[in-house]
Amino acid sequence: MAETAEERHNATEFATAPVPCSVALIVGITGITGLSLAEALRSPSALGRPWTIYGVARRSPPPWFPLPALELFLPLDVLDLSATLRALSPLAALVTHLFYVPAAASSAEASAEMLSNVLIALSANSPRSSLRHVALQTGSMHYLPQLPLGGCRPPSPAPFREDAPRGSHSLFYYALEDILQATASHSQRLTWTVHRPSVILGASPRSEYNLLLTLAACALICRRERAPLVYPGNEYTWRNPCCDASDAGLLAEQQIWSATEVVNEALNCTNGDVFSWGRLWEVVAEEFGVVHVAPGGEGWEWVERMKRKGNVWEAIVEEEGLVQTRLEEIANFEFVYAMTNMEFEIVSCMEKSRALGFDRRVDTMESLRRWIGTMREINLIP
Ligand SMILES: *[C@@H]1O[C@H](CO)[C@@H](O)[C@H](O)[C@H]1NC(C)=O
Repeated sequence: MAETAEERHNATEFATAPVPCSVALIVGITGITGLSLAEALRSPSALGRPWTIYGVARRSPPPWFPLPALELFLPLDVLDLSATLRALSPLAALVTHLFYVPAAASSAEASAEMLSNVLIALSANSPRSSLRHVALQTGSMHYLPQLPLGGCRPPSPAPFREDAPRGSHSLFYYALEDILQATASHSQRLTWTVHRPSVILGASPRSEYNLLLTLAACALICRRERAPLVYPGNEYTWRNPCCDASDAGLLAEQQIWSATEVVNEALNCTNGDVFSWGRLWEVVAEEFGVVHVAPGGEGWEWVERMKRKGNVWEAIVEEEGLVQTRLEEIANFEFVYAMTNMEFEIVSCMEKSRALGFDRRVDTMESLRRWIGTMREINLIP
């Protein structure tokens, strides 16, 4: 039932009185989840409000970035310990909640070092620190340790086999969780949650796995070349509801909810429905007005072919007056190829989260259309 304006007003008044100040540090603020986190923390209905928000990212913010949402933006590479100490130690007495979205790193060790540097700079296990909770984002790849997903090399030929090399992403997830738990065990007050989304739907050109932006670029390139949107995957993923997704807004909400409600748990975070890639392909084709083509044994050549379309994307950006982006930065064709060539379900179970009290659901195809709309609003795509 929709609440009336008056009820909302009363709720706001009630909740603003005794709340202690919450100060969030979002590491990875310009990525898909970071942006949604900042937005959700600003929302008048955010748990734990009012929030002060500090944001960290490696590069300075892009032109479309809503800077006013932040108290402070810190361009910082957290792999550099002394820079991290300089930038974050002064905040150690202020920050109560760390939202940590891992950035791409050269190795699992580097990735672990990055989280560890941030925790050191915030003196996470010292009484001086104000830090009460860390929400760490990993992903459903956690459950698929043997998949070569996420690498930028051709995966071993599908179907993926159990004896294929381990995915570096799963390895670094485990390392990050270990660091977090070890730190918390030395602290009296610090609690943690780990969040495991599936494919994230959101709007940022600064993410390594932006499925939607990759698909949008594909569709726009096809439209310009008057070519159909070819499906690079197999029959199985085309036909079967075998995959789930995570709306970036939902993911942000779960992280904020758990930061105030949940102690030391790992939680899956997905929309609660499943889709076939064929249906998703159809919706994308419809959104961009292109014809789509069912699986046709495209194979890895599709990836090679799409990667050579940088000049076409450049022309689209130029002609449409879009925010400057390069195809190799915004599109991850290997990821699309890997996801669409699975031969089994990737579906997370949301029961644990629901049992603990978080029961929001999102319709994935609606989420898809909404985020395409947002990418248009911020002028990433026409
Ligand atoms: C997440 O979902 C997977 C797949 O259904 C399941 O095996 C796992 O136990 C779930 N994890 C949590 C933390 O609920």
